[in-house]
Amino acid sequence: MSKPRVFVTRIMPAAGLDRVREACNAEIWSGEMPPPYETLREKVRGVDGLLCMLTDRIDGQLMDAAGPGLKVISQMAVGYDNIDVPAAQVRGIPIGHTPGVLTEATADLAFGLLLAAARRIVEGANYIQDGQWRTWDPNALLGRDLSGATLGIIGLGRIGRAVARRAAGFNMRILAYSPSLTFESAAEVNAVAVDLETLLRESDFVSLHLPLNARTRHLINRVTLSQMKANAILVNTARGGIIDHAALVEALRSGIIGGAALDVTDPEPISPDDPLLSLPNALVVPHIGSASQWTRDQMARMAAENLIAGVTGQPLPNRVPTG
Ligand code: DGY
Repeated sequence: MSKPRVFVTRIMPAAGLDRVREACNAEIWSGEMPPPYETLREKVRGVDGLLCMLTDRIDGQLMDAAGPGLKVISQMAVGYDNIDVPAAQVRGIPIGHTPGVLTEATADLAFGLLLAAARRIVEGANYIQDGQWRTWDPNALLGRDLSGATLGIIGLGRIGRAVARRAAGFNMRILAYSPSLTFESAAEVNAVAVDLETLLRESDFVSLHLPLNARTRHLINRVTLSQMKANAILVNTARGGIIDHAALVEALRSGIIGGAALDVTDPEPISPDDPLLSLPNALVVPHIGSASQWTRDQMARMAAENLIAGVTGQPLPNRVPTG
């Protein structure tokens, strides 16, 4: 019997790619950059399965270009805002993703960004590289203490909870907001459930852990930024689109908030000329929340398992919830 035909949009870790190659007749895009949309439409023609990345736009037209044989879309990421889920649903195509395995790595990075911004670690490294360090200085590079400060976590799901566990270890007071968060569920990670406005008003640090969708797009905007403390630091390891980028630049410039530490931006990649990058109170890294070897191996393995299950008519081990 011939193997199912699949297209994989990037060279992913061998932990997953080898499985795909064994089980499928796979074409793998070997470019350093993602396949352009039009090329992807050509490549998926007649495939049984598509394994894609968050850098690929997967819409109804692309699904139609693949044709009626497309049995599964498997994304190597937990987030799937690049995929038109309703379009897949009406076509009966299940979508796979990789929840769970990137929780700790992403929480580590969120906390790393928080610490780096609070204690001005990158500024300190640059200070030495620029040849400015002449003596220990009682007044130089003074930052903010974490112990006793309040952390507001917006989105207390898997990653938000992992961030809360880290914050408890640093003796922080933790507030949390999610639309259906209960007091008991927040208390499990030493957090107090509050409404969004209270969280923004009382937090010294605010960390975002929400999916990007129509409800969360630009949740952080001119109005919500103005509700934050004037020295608050905003951390985003979720999706860039949750923040209104222009409003953030303005808030950082005019001192409406104290700083931002971002793993994600809108758009990605951020242009090297973007005004955000010239602000001394903004720290930006290139979407590396899940970028540890173990984590990426697990993501690739899960994406391969979802793909193989889909093309062989089995239920996906990790299917994106619908409806
Ligand atoms: C995801 O899986 O959605 C992450 O953003 C990848 O780092």
